[in-house]
Amino acid sequence: MNLLIKNIKQLVTVHADGKPWKAGNEMREISIIEHATVLIENGLFRWIGRGEEFTQPVSETIDIIDATDLVALPGFVDSHTHLLFAGTREDEFALRVEGKTYQEIEQAGGGILNTVQATRKTNKKELKKIARRHIDTMLTEGTTTIEIKSGYGLNEKDEIKMLEAINELTEECLMDIVPTFLGAHTIPPEFKNNPGGYVDLLCTRLLPYIAQRELATCCDAFCDEGYFSVDQSRTIFKKAQSLGMSIKIHADQLKQIGASKLAGEMGALSADHLEQIDDAGIAALRQSGTIATVLPGVSFFLHYGYPPSRKMIDAGIPLAISSNFNPGSCMSYSMPLMMTIACTQMSMSIEEAITASTLNGAAALGLSEKLGSIEVGKQADIVLYDIPSYRYLTYHFGTNHVAKVIKHGIYLDF
Ligand code: NIG
Repeated sequence: MNLLIKNIKQLVTVHADGKPWKAGNEMREISIIEHATVLIENGLFRWIGRGEEFTQPVSETIDIIDATDLVALPGFVDSHTHLLFAGTREDEFALRVEGKTYQEIEQAGGGILNTVQATRKTNKKELKKIARRHIDTMLTEGTTTIEIKSGYGLNEKDEIKMLEAINELTEECLMDIVPTFLGAHTIPPEFKNNPGGYVDLLCTRLLPYIAQRELATCCDAFCDEGYFSVDQSRTIFKKAQSLGMSIKIHADQLKQIGASKLAGEMGALSADHLEQIDDAGIAALRQSGTIATVLPGVSFFLHYGYPPSRKMIDAGIPLAISSNFNPGSCMSYSMPLMMTIACTQMSMSIEEAITASTLNGAAALGLSEKLGSIEVGKQADIVLYDIPSYRYLTYHFGTNHVAKVIKHGIYLDF
């Protein structure tokens, strides 16, 4: 389908100038075109510019959207989610509100293992049905690309069930979905006294099977105290890399154990969380070009310290924002809300938050050559908002301002 979007009040392109991401001061340069026109052909952007400069003849049958009074941004890229799960954990939320910590709840048998129990009991069809509802809502809120991790199966059968479900959703939904294997989310009860045996299982059985069937593009590990050590994570990552997979890592969330340094050493695609990152970790990420992915909703929801985004941006590290949607540490996938929290609690400018949620999010998935900004030749993922200016999006928070979503050139009618 070809589409002409005319009279866009303000078009934020996040033009990347041929680079895979923006870092440092560049994160503030989001390239705004007033009174813009966008031509989409065969799912790709073909022409972008000021309306009065558009002189190309268009076929009489082309669909036209009049975007008078609307503001356009690239679709959001949510590069870290645990979206596929069964059950919910509002009772744990109630305990946290009364003062219990995430770790205390986990140690008492709740947390990730609570969701593992529910997910193991749920068949693939039902899991997909639950996930589909989340994915459809995310699209209506302006998110057009997501990553989904496994990690609530933690045995061969259920990790594969999760990855198959994610891959099937990729085929069935308009949303672009990147599947990530997170077998190393926590030690399952069956291996409580033999964590090494579980790492062996991941390396000798699961990873080869997953790679052979191309069930996941990335491999992730929760490298933190009480979860997977730096050495265990390194072992898993080396195996994954030898099988052609990219590395993502849950780093420096609870305790500083050197996970960001490991991300740098392994040349990880992204290091995510980073609430406890230290100067050595910052230096390692800067050197390796790893995307630092911050998850503002987690600090907000778990009520603990925020990652030092300002320091990381000022150090020249490309930074992405993601929701980390999951039933424990962030039960929200609203990217505008994440951006507002990043602005008010993490000293990020609105422009930095936009770059972090679009182009840099795409880079955190290795997809920024193809999407994440509005540029000729890129995939046409563009969202129109009923707001007076792009800055209004993060300012008027907690409500959905989306007017229209165009995904891969297809206009979604909600
Ligand atoms: O990124 N830290 C580990 N994993 C998730 C939480 C998952 C859960 O609580 O179910 C996170 O915060």
